[in-house]
Amino acid sequence: MIIEHIGIAVASLDEALGRYRDCLGLEVSGREEVEEQGVRVAMLPVGESRIELLEPTGPGSPVARFLSKRGPGIHHVALRVDDLEGTLRRLKAAGVRLIDERPRPGAGNSRIAFIHPSSMNGVLLELVEHGK
Ligand code: CO
Repeated sequence: MIIEHIGIAVASLDEALGRYRDCLGLEVSGREEVEEQGVRVAMLPVGESRIELLEPTGPGSPVARFLSKRGPGIHHVALRVDDLEGTLRRLKAAGVRLIDERPRPGAGNSRIAFIHPSSMNGVLLELVEHGK
């Protein structure tokens, strides 16, 4: 298992890229809008992992609510798993509170599922399975 990415909530992608890209020197591997989740995303590879900058698309976005409650910062940690369905089954059997009981489509060819922070010591955890 590896840390697939770390999601960071920001008010403005362009403002955040001024430091993560221009000052730190990280490259942007992709930018996209994920309408379903109400975010615009920029991905910046760091070794085998990535930083995922998340900007809300509007006031109803979950990331907008996160920003107004807690301010910018780490929003979620994503772990890469080989068998997402099997992992979700094990977590459910162990009584872990899942936000997604079934995988849903993620960026690229991936499938993702979120686990509720109340079951993960306050951390919103995303599981990512890459297409086979
Ligand atoms: Co993510």
